[in-house]
Amino acid sequence: MKTPTIFTLSLLSLTPSILAQCTDPVPCQDESLNALNTTACQTYHAFIARGSDSGYPGHLGPLAKLVCGNLTSSADSNTTCGYENIVYPANSSWSGPTTDIWCKSAAIGAQAGQEQLREYADRCPDAKLILLGFSQGGSVALDVLGGGGGVVFNCTQEDNAALDPESSPGSHIVAAAIFGAVHRSAHQPYSVQNGGQNYNGSTPRSAAQLSDLAKYKDVLREYCNVGDPICAPSSPDQAPVNHLNYFEKYNDDAAEFIVAKARGNDSAENGTSGDSGDAGDVQQGSVDGGAGGLKVEGLAWVVGFGVIVLGL
Ligand SMILES: *[C@@H]1O[C@H](CO)[C@@H](O)[C@H](O)[C@H]1NC(C)=O
Ligand SMILES: *[C@@H]1O[C@H](CO)[C@@H](O)[C@H](O)[C@H]1NC(C)=O
Ligand SMILES: *[C@@H]1O[C@H](CO)[C@@H](O)[C@H](O)[C@H]1NC(C)=O
Ligand SMILES: *[C@@H]1O[C@H](CO)[C@@H](O)[C@H](O)[C@H]1NC(C)=O
Ligand SMILES: *[C@@H]1O[C@H](CO)[C@@H](O)[C@H](O)[C@H]1NC(C)=O
Ligand SMILES: *[C@@H]1O[C@H](CO)[C@@H](O)[C@H](O)[C@H]1NC(C)=O
Ligand SMILES: *[C@@H]1O[C@H](CO)[C@@H](O)[C@H](O)[C@H]1NC(C)=O
Ligand SMILES: *[C@@H]1O[C@H](CO)[C@@H](O)[C@H](O)[C@H]1NC(C)=O
Repeated sequence: MKTPTIFTLSLLSLTPSILAQCTDPVPCQDESLNALNTTACQTYHAFIARGSDSGYPGHLGPLAKLVCGNLTSSADSNTTCGYENIVYPANSSWSGPTTDIWCKSAAIGAQAGQEQLREYADRCPDAKLILLGFSQGGSVALDVLGGGGGVVFNCTQEDNAALDPESSPGSHIVAAAIFGAVHRSAHQPYSVQNGGQNYNGSTPRSAAQLSDLAKYKDVLREYCNVGDPICAPSSPDQAPVNHLNYFEKYNDDAAEFIVAKARGNDSAENGTSGDSGDAGDVQQGSVDGGAGGLKVEGLAWVVGFGVIVLGL
């Protein structure tokens, strides 16, 4: 059996340059994105769980813009759409002195996400809710829906219960899109068929968590690339870019899925409808590394200008 390895990704400064993303830990300067940031009652309202060490709202901002732009493009001027951040630390284990900081951070995220959804759904009972998550935030989003907790990386995350899809706030969730999650399992019905669906994440989820998560399969789409060291660490062609190119590859596919679900249109229900490329399609040139960029404890890669350290 393979020795457990701690993979820690700091997503800071290593973002595909094609998309304007508010990933740095400074206030987001994208005014059209900031204009969607609200806790007011809306027709459609997204909750965003950002990746480790990322600023708010992080890599999922452009997807939120696509989705809301589409959902508010109809003739009905009363239709509103926006997002709020799931407020949690998003600490990578790299950032802390102890190895359990990732688990503490994710547990805070799972609890905060459920509380924010509950508070919003109580206050805004007509709203249709959308859940988005990437990397640690993808793990958090899965925890929000299907319950979380257990061993992840080299620490043990506190348990949290699943949300019941039959009662509020679970019943308000019309769509969820999750990318590069840490704590996930192979061969699940909501996984997009682009390769990573055949591999476990850094650790697999428990049978109980998977069974509760599967209740959301009709509204959930989970993306995991082959070669992503976080969501498919035992797959071939491991490279950090495979953890970072989801938004170039799949934003259109995810937006189409979310919009169709949000509008109550099931035409996009079956599996992937867009590019089903594997790691071979990866556009390495778009990775823009930097000092303090992407760090994976355990080995060492050099990607662009970014150095990845990995240790066993
Ligand atoms: C979004 O709104 C919250 C308050 O609701 C605020 O704390 C945060 O700084 C805002 N900006 C971004 C980019 O998330
Ligand atoms: C929009 O909301 C206003 C106020 O509630 C209402 O009078 C109007 O009919 C609505 N318009 C549409 C197109 O639903
Ligand atoms: C955890 O993340 C928060 C910001 O989200 C940061 O303020 C804090 O310093 C981080 N903790 C450590 C130990 O890095
Ligand atoms: C992982 O956990 C084990 C058991 O608690 C500990 O002995 C080991 O040092 C940890 N490894 C790392 C890299 O923190
Ligand atoms: C995923 O993890 C489960 C639970 O440990 C294990 O039974 C299964 O064989 C693993 N699947 C793959 C593809 O690694
Ligand atoms: C909105 O999304 C639907 C479904 O993906 C698509 O058919 C339509 O062209 C989009 N409309 C706009 C204005 O983006
Ligand atoms: C559902 O999708 C079909 C085909 O894409 C489209 O013609 C129809 O207008 C959509 N319905 C709604 C309610 O969006
Ligand atoms: C979607 O899946 C259902 C059930 O598996 C099948 O009957 C239907 O034909 C599929 N629709 C499309 C558009 O692939």
